[in-house]
Amino acid sequence: MKIAFIGLGVMGFPMAGHLAKAGHQVSVFNRSAEKATRWAETFQGRACKTIADAVAHAEMAFLCVGRDDDVREVVAQALPGMAPGGIIIDHTTTSAKLAIDMAEAAASVGRAFVDAPVSGGAGRCRSGAADRHVRRRA
Ligand SMILES: NC(=O)c1ccc[n+]([C@@H]2O[C@H](COP(=O)([O-])OP(=O)(O)OC[C@H]3O[C@@H](n4cnc5c(N)ncnc54)[C@H](OP(=O)(O)O)[C@@H]3O)[C@@H](O)[C@H]2O)c1
Repeated sequence: MKIAFIGLGVMGFPMAGHLAKAGHQVSVFNRSAEKATRWAETFQGRACKTIADAVAHAEMAFLCVGRDDDVREVVAQALPGMAPGGIIIDHTTTSAKLAIDMAEAAASVGRAFVDAPVSGGAGRCRSGAADRHVRRRA
């Protein structure tokens, strides 16, 4: 699949790597560009200078950034550039309200948003054993 990954921190860097190693075409973006450059030197994939470039043509865009406001900022930049039917999968630890707001924003433009926070810490992220939790609306 064509995948974008935004946020190459302690968790995101290895997670994006696992997707590349699984054979997906991965385009990455990180706010501080040196992490994206280092990622592209480590794994097979493309380092992008903008979120719009990373998500262009992506079927799925994964996020693993800081907190609610960071996700709002990134989603606002990602949604316009994604193909219709594109899916944003957010691994950031955020509030339930953020997830509902982002799901509504995505649906309003024909995209989808999945809230999928992770646990397990950096070690299990590097090994590929971290857990993903998908929160569902009651
Ligand atoms: N670390 C853990 O053990 C762990 C475990 C479970 C869950 N989590 C959750 O996973 C998420 C990521 O954690 P982490 O430890 O990987 O954090 P991190 O190392 O600080 O990485 C966060 C990354 O997101 C980028 N970022 C933050 N705000 C952004 C924004 N507004 N726009 C664009 N990029 C932005 C940062 O870019 P810069 O390089 O420019 O700062 C950084 O590369 C958090 O929500 C955290 O609570 C972490």
